[in-house]
Amino acid sequence: MALKKRRKLKVKNFIIFIIIVFVLLFSIYKLGAFVVKKIFSKEEPVVVTTKKKKEPKKKEEKKTEEKKNPLEEKYKKLDNINEKIDFFIDENIDRYIAYKEKNKDLSNEQVVVDVNIGLDNDYYTNVKEASNLNTTYILVNKYNSLSKDFVPNNLKSLDSKYSISGMKMVDVAKDAFEEMSKTALKDKLHIIAMSTYRSYDYQVNLYNKYAKKDGVDAANTYSAKAGFSEHQTGLAVDVYNGSVNYTSFEKTKEFTWMQENAHKFGFIMRYPKDKEKETGYKYEAWHYRYVGKEIAEYIHDKNITYDEYYVRFIQNKKKD
Ligand code: DAL
Ligand code: ZN
Repeated sequence: MALKKRRKLKVKNFIIFIIIVFVLLFSIYKLGAFVVKKIFSKEEPVVVTTKKKKEPKKKEEKKTEEKKNPLEEKYKKLDNINEKIDFFIDENIDRYIAYKEKNKDLSNEQVVVDVNIGLDNDYYTNVKEASNLNTTYILVNKYNSLSKDFVPNNLKSLDSKYSISGMKMVDVAKDAFEEMSKTALKDKLHIIAMSTYRSYDYQVNLYNKYAKKDGVDAANTYSAKAGFSEHQTGLAVDVYNGSVNYTSFEKTKEFTWMQENAHKFGFIMRYPKDKEKETGYKYEAWHYRYVGKEIAEYIHDKNITYDEYYVRFIQNKKKD
């Protein structure tokens, strides 16, 4: 019995020993795991912080988009034509958009040309004093006027060989006209000046005479109100061939010659066929304007009006 008891005691002690060893090992393992976790857990917040910093940036970007210049939205309505042409005028942008609404068939470029000319307003409204006085690139039309007192510098009488009596033009235009008529005469063609510089007062009487004869509306299609006539610049000339009335100039050989040669001397047909809307006047086969050879050749090649040429290449680029 005593031997049995001793054996039982040994087994019991052995089990207790095993349990103690197991508890000790388990505690060491847990302690180790805790220490390792502590050491490596320091890096975690860095990762979390980085992610959190990115989120507010996204919100800022959204706000910037919302605050975009309202002009950008308006440019979009015109398919960003402002990036393709250099005669786009920001302050006209609302007029471009309104004009495009009314003229959906027009290209965006044509919309800008028309509005820059002033065609979104009725003729003789939104009128400005003409810029570039006493230059060969002055524009005078139903939106750009000359004062009652304006008389061009350097007016000179034309050679009677190439004009009716009393005709005067600005010197450079006179020289070019005489050179042109002289050249035509070599082909036995007569280009004769029959109306050149006209004073403001002269135009008052002329316009009133036409308005009385045909009524104001009809007169407005072919005669300028005083202050709006290009003849007041001293750069315009009405021609005929010395025998046929000027209203039939289109039917003469001289007209055909002018079509082929006027630009070489710096003259353009100022009121062409099918351009009534832009110029504000009916076709005039007899009215020519001196603009210089470079501009005349461009206009001849491209078949555009001087009104269009001016807003594309001169307006906002040259100053008085
Ligand atoms: N016939 C042109 C338009 C003028 O009167 O000036
Ligand atoms: Zn004329």
